[in-house]
Amino acid sequence: MELLGRSSLIQLSLRLLLLFLSVRALPISAQSTGPGSGVILRIDCGGFTNFTNQFSQTWIADSYFTGGSVSSVSEPDNFPQQQERTVRYFPISLGKKHCYVVPVPTGRYFIRMYFVYDNYDHKWTTPSFDVSVEGTVVFSWRSPWDPDIAKRGAYSDLHAFVEDGFATVCLYSWATDAPVIGSLEIVQVDDQSYNAVSTGRDVILVNYGRITAGNSSFGAGLSNDTELGGRAWEMDSAYSSSTYSSSLITTTEPIRNVNTAPNYYPERLFQSARVAATNGSIQYHFIVDSSLDYMLLFHFAEIGMSISGPGQRLFSVSVNDRVIFPGVDIFNLTGGNYAALTLNYTYRNLSDTNLTVTFTGVNAAPLISGMEVLAMLQIEIGTDTGEAGAMQGLKTSLEVPERMGWNGDPCTPSTWDAWEGVSCTLDNEKNSLVISRLDVSSQGLKGFISDQITQLKYLTFLNFSFNDISGTIPNGLGEGTLVNVDLSHNSLTGNIPDSLGSEQLTHVLLNDNLLNGRVPETLYSIGVRGGSINLLNNKGLCGVPPLPACPHFWQDSGLSAGAKAGIVLSSFLGAAVLVLLVCFCLKKRNPDDDYNFGLPHQLAMRHKRYMMYRATLQSNNEDGHMMRVSPEVNSVKEKRFIEMIEGMRDEPPRFISHIRDSKARIHSLSHLYLSHPPGNS
Ligand SMILES: *[C@@H]1O[C@H](CO)[C@@H](O)[C@H](O)[C@H]1NC(C)=O
Ligand SMILES: *[C@@H]1O[C@H](CO)[C@@H](O)[C@H](O)[C@H]1NC(C)=O
Ligand SMILES: *[C@@H]1O[C@H](CO)[C@@H](O)[C@H](O)[C@H]1NC(C)=O
Ligand SMILES: *[C@@H]1O[C@H](CO)[C@@H](O)[C@H](O)[C@H]1NC(C)=O
Ligand SMILES: *[C@@H]1O[C@H](CO)[C@@H](O)[C@H](O)[C@H]1NC(C)=O
Ligand SMILES: *[C@@H]1O[C@H](CO)[C@@H](O)[C@H](O)[C@H]1NC(C)=O
Ligand SMILES: *[C@@H]1O[C@H](CO)[C@@H](O)[C@H](O)[C@H]1NC(C)=O
Ligand SMILES: *[C@@H]1O[C@H](CO)[C@@H](O)[C@H](O)[C@H]1NC(C)=O
Ligand SMILES: *[C@@H]1O[C@H](CO)[C@@H](O)[C@H](O)[C@H]1NC(C)=O
Repeated sequence: MELLGRSSLIQLSLRLLLLFLSVRALPISAQSTGPGSGVILRIDCGGFTNFTNQFSQTWIADSYFTGGSVSSVSEPDNFPQQQERTVRYFPISLGKKHCYVVPVPTGRYFIRMYFVYDNYDHKWTTPSFDVSVEGTVVFSWRSPWDPDIAKRGAYSDLHAFVEDGFATVCLYSWATDAPVIGSLEIVQVDDQSYNAVSTGRDVILVNYGRITAGNSSFGAGLSNDTELGGRAWEMDSAYSSSTYSSSLITTTEPIRNVNTAPNYYPERLFQSARVAATNGSIQYHFIVDSSLDYMLLFHFAEIGMSISGPGQRLFSVSVNDRVIFPGVDIFNLTGGNYAALTLNYTYRNLSDTNLTVTFTGVNAAPLISGMEVLAMLQIEIGTDTGEAGAMQGLKTSLEVPERMGWNGDPCTPSTWDAWEGVSCTLDNEKNSLVISRLDVSSQGLKGFISDQITQLKYLTFLNFSFNDISGTIPNGLGEGTLVNVDLSHNSLTGNIPDSLGSEQLTHVLLNDNLLNGRVPETLYSIGVRGGSINLLNNKGLCGVPPLPACPHFWQDSGLSAGAKAGIVLSSFLGAAVLVLLVCFCLKKRNPDDDYNFGLPHQLAMRHKRYMMYRATLQSNNEDGHMMRVSPEVNSVKEKRFIEMIEGMRDEPPRFISHIRDSKARIHSLSHLYLSHPPGNS
């Protein structure tokens, strides 16, 4: 059952409008790192109502998305949580890349997502797609999904810094598949949590296992227990090795040192523990991505009745073949019973996808309360802030259609194509990505060219031809690094700006527009330099023959004495120019345009994030050009696009050539946990 059909586009655009209004209306609250006082935002993707669930969690109706459609799972009765029953999905016809862009204060966040298929589209095929957070790919879903997860869905989570005031989660279609998401939770946590000071702000911690040695899972969305970090703790039995026998013990005694900064581990975590048989061992197996490093956290509290002093329970902890803690004495380390202890270790150079943790008794039996296995993912270099902002400005002014996927960061993640028609390169300092080429020819664009285009400092190639772009050509367009400009076959009006006569330009094609006024005399020298210009079929251009002479007022208003001298000079070149104008040599690409997209392998990962959505909002405010999604605009082109896509259904996805990191993180799919155990419907 499809909730939204074709007529949904208008509704969608209304929702988009509402989205942007609400984005603008939402106040950015003051920075806070205390528990529970930071931002907590739970979004029911695809949902139409706000609600509070049985654990007193507040959920909001679907918001902050850049597009897509909504649907619901086929068997809603199987899903105990309301947010799990509806989904937002992104058909390829609506673009290859879609995002949730959530305005939040700068800071550290726990971000959790729920993914489910349950045949919501009646196609019986789970989709393949990637998910990025802040421009870095974190999850890769590949078809076919595990049947149980496809049917019941699963949660994945991570910790990341948001530096730009917007938590950005993007989904990328693989081939022609439609990415789908069920819910998104964003919980502000302590800026110093999880060793953030030593790891730096460039690391995303992806959950590969967060377990409690207890008889049931608990935490956010699973129980009423206080979990200030928004986390869920999964029962450890699925991970514990059957080779060793062990048992669970519990206590109702209060535990000291719980819910303390910066990690706020809940008391319940420490009130149960797994204890090995005498002199025995406890072993857990985690399946991980061997290309990554892991932050391992071990949680203990001495709750054993028989332990009343130091030295009575001593055990070692090893990971695979490496002993990481030779002697753990909980009582000694905490100074007594019923006190929380967390030890951590960074495990590097993993050689296996199995991460096996063994607790071995030195004297007496080892005891463990819980564990976390967190992959340390380096964030990728992002697009330069100014350039990203300029691209958002262009997206709005050109009314770029949704299907072109101009959402999220224009250039990252590097494992995916940049925005359609956009090419990126490293800036001179090699610490951010910048726009080098823009080719959006023949896309049915109807807007105007925002002045912000002049902020693209590395742009060399521009092709906006065969659209219906109106307005004037921005004044400073040719001032930068631009070599090749094709604005032909549009509805541009006004004068040709002087900057298009700049000497680095070799191709300036302005034919078939509505331009008028005097042609800057420096433009003609492009022909002399062996480049090409084409000014044919405009409304009223004047200047050097074969164009008509300009009426007097042009001369009066526009030209300096030097410029007049220039005209005299250029008229000597008239013959050459005439030839060029008549044959309008549309030369092929200048070799200078072919940029090398290969990025060096060992780039210093420097922090530099973009502010583009703020920029969009500002430009929306200024010119009132909201993202207009008008159903009739692209129907023909869209149809053609879909036909084209259908034709390449079986082709592998296109990747850009600059996959920088040889550590293929494309298969890093974090640990998944179910909110309700299988077989419990
Ligand atoms: C949901 O709550 C938010 C405020 O938290 C409000 O802005 C929005 O209008 C509500 N949406 C619905 C559908 O009630
Ligand atoms: C959680 O606590 C609230 C009251 O604080 C109660 O109404 C609700 O039933 C509890 N939910 C569960 C699942 O225990
Ligand atoms: C990890 O251990 C170091 C000392 O070894 C400590 O300073 C740090 O706070 C610990 N981090 C966590 C998250 O427990
Ligand atoms: C877990 O253990 C506690 C304490 O022994 C008990 O009260 C509870 O019923 C157990 N829960 C399950 C699901 O077995
Ligand atoms: C407790 O630990 C300290 C070192 O932190 C050590 O010197 C002492 O011997 C330990 N006590 C016992 C009883 O193991
Ligand atoms: C990991 O490998 C690097 C080189 O590949 C080495 O410098 C480093 O010492 C290793 N670390 C550990 C913990 O083995
Ligand atoms: C990894 O663990 C699984 C069971 O958890 C086992 O079947 C497999 O052989 C292990 N692989 C290696 C390389 O140890
Ligand atoms: C268990 O440890 C005790 C000493 O604490 C030792 O005497 C005994 O032999 C050990 N038993 C086994 C089976 O290793
Ligand atoms: C711009 O794009 C059009 C249509 O794709 C193409 O015909 C033209 O050659 C391109 N212009 C340049 C300068 O490459």
